[in-house]
Amino acid sequence: MSSFPAWLARKDDDGYRVERSELGDADLMEGDVTVAVEYSTLNYKDGLALTGKAPIVRRFPLVPGIDLAGRVIESSSPDFRPGDSVLLNGFGVGEEHHGGYAGRARVRSEWLLKIPEGLDARRAMAIGTAGYTAMLCILKLEDHGIRPDGGPIAISGAAGGVGSIALAVLGRLGYELQAITGRGEEADYLKTLGAAGILPRDDFTRPARPLARETWQAGIDVAGGNTLANILSQTRYGGAVAACGLAESMELPASVAPFILRGVTLYGVDSVQCPMPRRIEAWNRLARDLDLDLLDRLSQEVDFERLPEAGEDILAGRIRGRAVVKIPE
Ligand SMILES: NC(=O)c1ccc[n+]([C@@H]2O[C@H](COP(=O)([O-])OP(=O)(O)OC[C@H]3O[C@@H](n4cnc5c(N)ncnc54)[C@H](OP(=O)(O)O)[C@@H]3O)[C@@H](O)[C@H]2O)c1
Repeated sequence: MSSFPAWLARKDDDGYRVERSELGDADLMEGDVTVAVEYSTLNYKDGLALTGKAPIVRRFPLVPGIDLAGRVIESSSPDFRPGDSVLLNGFGVGEEHHGGYAGRARVRSEWLLKIPEGLDARRAMAIGTAGYTAMLCILKLEDHGIRPDGGPIAISGAAGGVGSIALAVLGRLGYELQAITGRGEEADYLKTLGAAGILPRDDFTRPARPLARETWQAGIDVAGGNTLANILSQTRYGGAVAACGLAESMELPASVAPFILRGVTLYGVDSVQCPMPRRIEAWNRLARDLDLDLLDRLSQEVDFERLPEAGEDILAGRIRGRAVVKIPE
């Protein structure tokens, strides 16, 4: 193949920008597996990279896109052969190694996963980093001992990517779920995913009291800030919260009261450097526990040529559920 389409982040005297480009094999980075990228996705972090609103990209010029899925076309690794369907999330891809917004990627085989049976490249990217992170949160809470009959679970950013997949998986497993959202108009959508009730985001963005009425068996939080502090202060004795995001704030204006008076546990969740055995566990669980019809309904396709505008949309909270990007040939 002579050239393939790509988006390229540049930073020079003219500042930071992401430009539509054509690349060739010689532009690919080091790695032992070359992948024909079929799909990528748009996560919150991709929105930050596409708009330059946070320093996600740390090497220039660089193809953004923290996820990719496609077919192996060349491999010197014994673990992958041409034709294998593979996916990749994180490991610095789209940050310091060329990412998913290009027709080809050359990557390290240690970063790649075979797409689990039951999923294909499109659905793997409909899940993407957001969905895989939702499952990492669920695994932490399961390890802690949550049970479907153990009481309600609060999920913030419910209409976003992590929130939508967390609702869909836990809803199918029979949990009682309360969706915290700034988009009351999405109530029907959130109930379809599995929410028993809808809570206005504004009730959670006010400063938290040290302790509030014990309500939640557990929580999954993508917001940080007051939202996370409020969920913690409302978590029942012995409960747990998995925190993975900063959509509201990087700060955590909370007190230690939930930890020292109620034995509440706060779990941090990182998807980027998560070890491979846990990734495989998360992806196998997604293939098993996610209703694929629901996945199709909670995902939409974003036009490759419109990626910078779509980046603005996700940061402004205008994208519902998950956004898949088909990479043109
Ligand atoms: N730790 C990790 O490895 C990891 C991995 C993936 C994602 N993340 C982080 O998790 C977060 C969610 O990612 P995503 O891809 O799901 O993004 P997303 O699709 O944009 O969802 C984020 C959601 O957060 C809610 N939200 C937006 N602004 C808010 C505010 N000011 N206060 C409270 N809630 C707000 C909105 O949901 P509603 O409209 O329903 O309120 C929005 O849809 C991001 O911060 C992302 O960086 C971290």
